[in-house]
Amino acid sequence: MAPQTRMCSADNLAKDLSGKTYIVTGANSGVGLEVTRQLARQKAAVIMACRNTRAAQPLADEINEKDDGNAKVMALDLGSLASVREFVTAFNEGHDGLDGLVNNAGVMNTPKGVTDDGFETQFGVNHLGPFLLSELLLPVLKASAPSRIIATSSVYHENGDLDFDDLNWTARKYDGFQAYHDSKLALVLYARHLGQRLEDSGVTSVSLHPGWVQSNLASHTMPLWVQNFLAYPVLKLMGMISPWEGAQTTLHCLLDDGVTAHNGAYFSQVGTLYKNKADRPGGWPMASPSRFVGDDALGARLYDVSAELVGLT
Ligand SMILES: NC(=O)c1ccc[n+]([C@@H]2O[C@H](COP(=O)([O-])OP(=O)(O)OC[C@H]3O[C@@H](n4cnc5c(N)ncnc54)[C@H](OP(=O)(O)O)[C@@H]3O)[C@@H](O)[C@H]2O)c1
Repeated sequence: MAPQTRMCSADNLAKDLSGKTYIVTGANSGVGLEVTRQLARQKAAVIMACRNTRAAQPLADEINEKDDGNAKVMALDLGSLASVREFVTAFNEGHDGLDGLVNNAGVMNTPKGVTDDGFETQFGVNHLGPFLLSELLLPVLKASAPSRIIATSSVYHENGDLDFDDLNWTARKYDGFQAYHDSKLALVLYARHLGQRLEDSGVTSVSLHPGWVQSNLASHTMPLWVQNFLAYPVLKLMGMISPWEGAQTTLHCLLDDGVTAHNGAYFSQVGTLYKNKADRPGGWPMASPSRFVGDDALGARLYDVSAELVGLT
């Protein structure tokens, strides 16, 4: 039987978030949409940072009408550093504060390709785009402290093994899953490094695994109709959870008072794919199973390399 899903506490889901502002990337589907809906239900202003604004707008309209929410769509393509910069400029022009940045958007097992700036797609979209976004939003997050940055990683970061000599997969035969694992390791390493940098700033940075969630993420691996109709009963028995269940760890990390004591930590929903069975029930927080995550020199190296690649140095 699949292990029990971890749920954010009722107290956290009942908090009045009036006056607070959150950015959720990839808010138009899956986990990000459920996080957005919940934050809006709790009366927060939510910026839905999406690349497909036409798909996102009707969802924002529905949230605002049905739940009397305050969701607003803003364009953000994480595969374009120019788009990230434009987003931050537009956000800063229209807002005075930011209580939480949820770096939720991601892609998995994409065909070999590059972002607008020439980076391997998954390293670019899953790590470098959110890296630049986080760094550019740090001033407003610090000014709004207490505030939080959430990095949606994956249980798969356990398999990550960054090749700093070939981050763009030009010298190796491309492996779409390994590139995903590497990008998700980068998120955990960066969240930890950021947590250390931000100690005593009032900004809390954490990473998380949302669970194995029925969403559009598998679209490059199998047709979604196969996942959602043919295979779903079996996948559910194997531990696949709904987007609402998948939103719980993010909501916990954003809303629980205890999280601030764990700057840089990794939080996990149940994870049937952990190699070590003891890790499968997850934990809030839990020790990362990756042998690389405790390596602070590696975190510092990733920060330096990423900063240079996105033009921050
Ligand atoms: N589902 C799982 O089992 C699972 C497990 C572990 C971790 N995760 C992580 O959880 C996060 C949410 O995924 P999900 O499961 O909710 O999948 P999803 O339904 O596919 O949602 C991913 C979101 O990211 C957006 N996105 C993709 N590329 C983007 C870009 N270049 N710029 C801006 N937004 C972009 C997508 O926008 P479009 O609609 O325009 O494509 C979509 O809104 C991801 O980071 C994923 O890696 C998921």
